Amino acid sequence: MGRPVPARTLGGVFTPPYPITTPRLVLRPFTETDLDDLHAFHSLPEVARYLYWDARTREETKAALDRKIACASLGEGGDMLCVAAESAGGGPVIGDLTLFLRSREHRQGEIGFVFNPAYQGRGLATEAAREVLRIAFEGLGLHRVHGNCDARNTASARLMERLGMRKEAHLVENEFFAGAWSDELIYAMLAREWHAGAAGARPPA
Ligand SMILES: CC(C)(COP(=O)(O)OP(=O)(O)OC[C@H]1O[C@@H](n2cnc3c(N)ncnc32)[C@H](O)[C@@H]1OP(=O)(O)O)[C@@H](O)C(=O)NCCC(=O)NCCS
Repeated sequence: MGRPVPARTLGGVFTPPYPITTPRLVLRPFTETDLDDLHAFHSLPEVARYLYWDARTREETKAALDRKIACASLGEGGDMLCVAAESAGGGPVIGDLTLFLRSREHRQGEIGFVFNPAYQGRGLATEAAREVLRIAFEGLGLHRVHGNCDARNTASARLMERLGMRKEAHLVENEFFAGAWSDELIYAMLAREWHAGAAGARPPA
């Protein structure tokens, strides 16, 4: 097997063409003024239930926001790109998305998403996450993007299915999470699958 062909955009630092607009959202980098909006949902135990962090104090959200502000571009493998999803028309930041560059050599990425529960159940996370996949495949030239979730996190699994990602694995009791063994699901999409249709897929009306 030959070595992976380097993506044309993976030679240096990549910054998405912000702002990215969708019918209901504006995607952009995080700024210091986002603290109240971010804390409104990072402080909620139900949001953190299946995440690797607990509901945050304001100081912890501030520290997380500082890290997100510093992650506005991708360069080296291991970097992460943090994307704020703001309600169109100057509304609050309601979503927090991440694209991890897991391997530059192998053009592998990982997607993550956290939304304010007050704005869940409307397809907004799907609308935002689709643009993050577009950044990954069309902007950055990645070959494969995966997303992992706790098997009990059905909202996350459904979102990845709506995006057109394939379920690749159900790992059984691979993590000791919050005091119990838990299963993990791995979903993924390849660049050719994105270009074959998921790019244009729209959530149900
Ligand atoms: C994962 C998460 C982002 C999913 O959010 P969500 O609101 O369920 O996802 P969407 O915005 O795509 O909304 C989809 C839901 O809205 C419904 N919906 C209503 N109007 C819709 C529309 N116009 N378009 C699409 N879906 C619509 C869908 O039917 C779907 O509901 P269902 O899952 O009951 O079938 C959210 O649950 C979350 O932030 N969880 C906490 C953090 C977390 O666990 N993140 C994942 C870590 S792995």
